[in-house]
Amino acid sequence: MSDGVWAAPGRVNLIGEHTDYNDGFVMPFALPHTTIATAARRDDGLLRLHSANAAGGTVHLRVADLAPGSPGGWSDYPAGVVWALRDAGHPVGGADIHYESTVPAGAGLSSSAALEVVTALALSDLYELGLERQCIARLCRRAENVYVGAPTGIMDQTASACCTAGHALHLDTRDLAQRQIPFDLAAHGLSLLVVDTRVQHSHSEGEYGKRRAGCEAGAAALGVDVLRDVPYAALDAALARLDDPEVRGLVRHVVTENHRVERVIAHLEAGEAEAIGPVLTEGHASLRDDFRVSCRELDLVVDSALTAGALGARMTGGGFGGSAIVLTRTPAAGAVSQAVLEEFEARSLTAPRIFSAAPAAGAKRLS
Ligand code: GLA
Repeated sequence: MSDGVWAAPGRVNLIGEHTDYNDGFVMPFALPHTTIATAARRDDGLLRLHSANAAGGTVHLRVADLAPGSPGGWSDYPAGVVWALRDAGHPVGGADIHYESTVPAGAGLSSSAALEVVTALALSDLYELGLERQCIARLCRRAENVYVGAPTGIMDQTASACCTAGHALHLDTRDLAQRQIPFDLAAHGLSLLVVDTRVQHSHSEGEYGKRRAGCEAGAAALGVDVLRDVPYAALDAALARLDDPEVRGLVRHVVTENHRVERVIAHLEAGEAEAIGPVLTEGHASLRDDFRVSCRELDLVVDSALTAGALGARMTGGGFGGSAIVLTRTPAAGAVSQAVLEEFEARSLTAPRIFSAAPAAGAKRLS
């Protein structure tokens, strides 16, 4: 049935967390783990979706009937992309699509964005839409926000669509300007470990939306459109104007996190890759104490990795479970991983899944 094969990766975010819906800065890179779609066009208006990773067999949908608020489950992501493409006026009809993924699901590594982006890229080619990467990211985000109903920002979809190997992607989520920042871990003798705590996270369960609403309340109280508009130099004055301690914490996180992205870029551009470690760890403390999206297991990864000699560590992604990243000198990587595993075992917690990752390629056609 194949007219082609496409791949889109998951991501980790190096720094810039919970900033993308505040018009702020993010800096993700693509993982080597991908979702692969083998797809063929069909001209009867039917969408036949099959995933090697999901139970429940094949899903059949009629593209003309797609509308937000539909069934639920993994097929909402690709179906939402078809809906978003058609809603934007692109002449997309039916397709047979078979998916296979190595992106861990529910681990905060953007398996949903990979599924969305690979679908959009395949359909763009199959229906000769010629969509640019940023346009694909925007349409996929719309699928997730409107069709699936998860109020996310645009980081994950942009990472999957636009990242390049060997680089982290500095994205300004206000004007969507992008810069590829070289991030060659091996050249600096460094390793980045991804630690999946196996604690399932879910954005649609409300906490993400509450943080987002809290940020909007903070911006309103400060008389700005979005928290991006609060400069780092004006943070103390802004905090003094906020009564609600929870909102104060949210504002402090977003403003300091945007500043941390700039600090990380400055270090990387100066060739001081090790120096980003403490900035990552500061970011974790801010997400834990001010933004309150960490959890016991994520904190344990960070604390045990640092005690074992890591240069820096933080949760990555939305939080409430999912994954953490750990920056370490390569010779120490084994001992750091071991220490994390032992601390989990000592507390009878499910063993985390640990792998090392370097910035990989964004979405592409394979054949
Ligand atoms: C999730 C969302 C992103 C972003 C992060 C937090 O991954 O999908 O848009 O908000 O959380 O930085």
